[in-house]
Amino acid sequence: MKTYKIALIPGDGIGRDMIAAAWSVLQKAADKRGFRLDGTEFPWSCAFYKETGAMMPADGIATLRGFDAILLGAVGWPAEVPDAVSLHGLLLPIRKDFVQYANIRPHRLLPGVQGPLRAAAFDILCIRENTEGEYSGAGGRIHQGTSDEVAVETSIFTRKGVERILRFAFEQARARRGKLASVTKSNAQKYSMVFWDEITRQLAQDYPDVEVTSYHIDAMAARMVMAPETLDVVVASNLFGDILTDLGAAIQGGLGFAASANINPERSAPSMFEPVHGSAPDIAHLGIANPIATVWSGAMMLEHLGEQAAANAVMAAIEATTASGIGTLPGKDRTDAITAALLAAI
Ligand code: NAD
Ligand code: IPM
Ligand code: MN
Repeated sequence: MKTYKIALIPGDGIGRDMIAAAWSVLQKAADKRGFRLDGTEFPWSCAFYKETGAMMPADGIATLRGFDAILLGAVGWPAEVPDAVSLHGLLLPIRKDFVQYANIRPHRLLPGVQGPLRAAAFDILCIRENTEGEYSGAGGRIHQGTSDEVAVETSIFTRKGVERILRFAFEQARARRGKLASVTKSNAQKYSMVFWDEITRQLAQDYPDVEVTSYHIDAMAARMVMAPETLDVVVASNLFGDILTDLGAAIQGGLGFAASANINPERSAPSMFEPVHGSAPDIAHLGIANPIATVWSGAMMLEHLGEQAAANAVMAAIEATTASGIGTLPGKDRTDAITAALLAAI
């Protein structure tokens, strides 16, 4: 029987419950479609850091390289480990080392979910650059603790990095409704963002069938709320894409619905699937987090593995669940009840 090796990293907070829920749904989908998901769980998390002094072992990346895909819950427990330590020790190195440069985040309303907007029609695919830009990690602080202190955080945009994410986004737009919105802040950021706009114009020559428009990030934030139906594919840098996709989650009705795939398009290393949301410390012990975002991310994993029929079955189960009124409002149904409904619908 065809078997896929999946690395499971539940991580922190609600991550554990979300992975348990998603894994049970994915297992059932695999059983029904006649393939196997062979999961290996890694306890890498803030608790692991407190025990060992590292978020993952020194050979963690090498270990993960042997898997077909990674399914991750959430990383971060800021009350005990600074976020800059936990995220730069686990999540961000995986994205970077495995060249998962295309972060795909779909935003659309599930049936039965009442989002906060009056306009009900939107179907936006956010493509976020995932390996460089504002998250380069380059910078430093001098004269620390003095009144002369200076902190510098350098964004690094490379032609290779910008071209590959824009090409990826043009291809996605071509496969959808043929519209691409490229997001920058080139009125204020005169090097990196002007560079991004220039490359957008250059690549547009290769995609005459795609209608491309450049927007500033501030205007895009307003447009996503006021006129989301005018958007198809939206491509943005690492930080801008991060912010727009929490906004996208909000217009979907909440963080519990927003899925995410960190893709290495060349398949030179495993890709990673995780919800947009984090460890949600405010609700972590209440058993009320919505697993739909993680289950949807799991469906994106099945699609990436080539199991399209199983991916479709998982998406249909999500839609049947919300259409029946389960899991539609934050906190309305318990994680277990939503998971049971998803399992029944598979
Ligand atoms: P968060 O996404 O964890 O939570 C934001 C809000 O959304 C909270 O009110 C939370 O209760 C709610 N929420 C999140 N997921 C939900 C779900 N499935 N169902 C219902 N409500 C949900 O963001 P935060 O509070 O800024 O971050 C908490 C920690 O998670 C921090 O350490 C942060 O760095 C980390 N984080 C990690 C990831 C990741 O691992 N990919 C993503 C975002 C944040
Ligand atoms: C996300 C998260 C991460 C990011 C954080 C936790 C570093 O917010 O996946 O959206 O900014 O990429
Ligand atoms: Mn985010």
